[in-house]
Amino acid sequence: MNTIGVIFDLDGVIVDTAKYHFLAWKKLADTLGFEFTESHNELLKGVSRVRSLEILLDIGKVHISDNEKQEYLISKNEDYLSYITKMGPEEILPGASNLLDNLDALRIDYVLGSASKNAPLILKQVGLYNRFKGIVDGNSVSKAKPDPEVFLIGAKKLGLKPQNCVVFEDAIAGVEAANAAKMISIGIGDAQTLNRAHYNFNDLTELPEGFFQELLTEKV
Ligand code: BG6
Ligand code: MG
Repeated sequence: MNTIGVIFDLDGVIVDTAKYHFLAWKKLADTLGFEFTESHNELLKGVSRVRSLEILLDIGKVHISDNEKQEYLISKNEDYLSYITKMGPEEILPGASNLLDNLDALRIDYVLGSASKNAPLILKQVGLYNRFKGIVDGNSVSKAKPDPEVFLIGAKKLGLKPQNCVVFEDAIAGVEAANAAKMISIGIGDAQTLNRAHYNFNDLTELPEGFFQELLTEKV
């Protein structure tokens, strides 16, 4: 077994589902009668579904009952599902498949560590479900990112100490969760936004050749 393992966030690292979350949340905001912009949508990245609704309602300064909240959570997810059930392998982000191939070649195990309750469905849609050694998703955690729980469960699935786990994340909350777990954090996206990450790349194609070999040498 290798001395390092990898934990991948899903949305924004392996697939670009933020656009579908945006369309579904925007439809709800339209129904409630306020504007929801792409920059508002940034605030929801990496955040759980329930927390996302709270942030959205704050943006619109809307107060609704708990029952209505439950109804809106269901209808938002139904809209979101109408998009993701049409996804296919062409929606895998650049560099992701190549990276998984490289990890396989190096015999480095990898698991998923996502806040999404739809993660298994999305992975099946894009044909990557069977490649992961384990899946930790929004159904398996009680505390959302930036709490490290999701990644600590991932480390257990890998059978590795947290400090030997490498996390790929596109959200501030996710980088914070990885750092809180004492893992090696890699920010994918804007380096300024993700300035707490140990390493930064604009996307997965930018990962230098030999990156994991170097980490392995350090960890032996
Ligand atoms: C995260 C996304 O991966 O999953 C968030 O970045 C989303 O935007 C969260 O709110 C929960 O997703 P889902 O699929 O359970 O509604
Ligand atoms: Mg993400």
